Amino acid sequence: MTTVYAEAVDRVLFTAEEIASAIDSLAARIARDYAGQPLLVLGVLKGALYVAADLVRAISRLPGGPAIELDFLVVSSYGVSTRSSGEVRLLKDTSANASGKNVLIVEDIVDNGLTLQYLRSLLNGRSPATLRTCVLFDKPYNRRVDVPIDYVGLVAPDAFVVGYGLDYGESYRNLPFLAQLRPTVFSK
Ligand code: IMP
Repeated sequence: MTTVYAEAVDRVLFTAEEIASAIDSLAARIARDYAGQPLLVLGVLKGALYVAADLVRAISRLPGGPAIELDFLVVSSYGVSTRSSGEVRLLKDTSANASGKNVLIVEDIVDNGLTLQYLRSLLNGRSPATLRTCVLFDKPYNRRVDVPIDYVGLVAPDAFVVGYGLDYGESYRNLPFLAQLRPTVFSK
């Protein structure tokens, strides 16, 4: 790695190629499950910016997949912390109408599960025809709620991770891979 990030990154957990391949596998499953049906994909910003964008394009490359409506909503992040506050705040709602539609929530990562549980209950209240969840990275070690995840891309280690949309204090989202940071980054 020759970028300005070289000093901050401890190790790469999943390369850009491994992430692309996981997204292709998710796209194949989703295209098969929703073949010939319309699908409303709701990406959860900011973290799911890349996964939602890459996933819908991967689906569109497959024959017979769903016709996709893409929208986003914004929920509160950790702030400059590696621990979730446990309180989920909706900063910006979707403008898409979920009623009667097949809705797929696309998240970057699930840790304690509270964000996904909040979003599931929010959208379930809008009478979708079906509601499923897709998560690129799962950290299944510290769940506080048992939330169903229909599509999981990769299982991440029990660590705070950055890259491919995930940030630490709004930095590192643009890294094309998933990485662990050096401990010195957190002590600054
Ligand atoms: P949960 O509510 O604990 O499941 O966390 C969900 C949200 O916390 C994700 O959408 C991320 O924004 C953030 N998050 C969880 N783990 C990490 C991490 O390792 N790095 C960066 N953000 C994370």
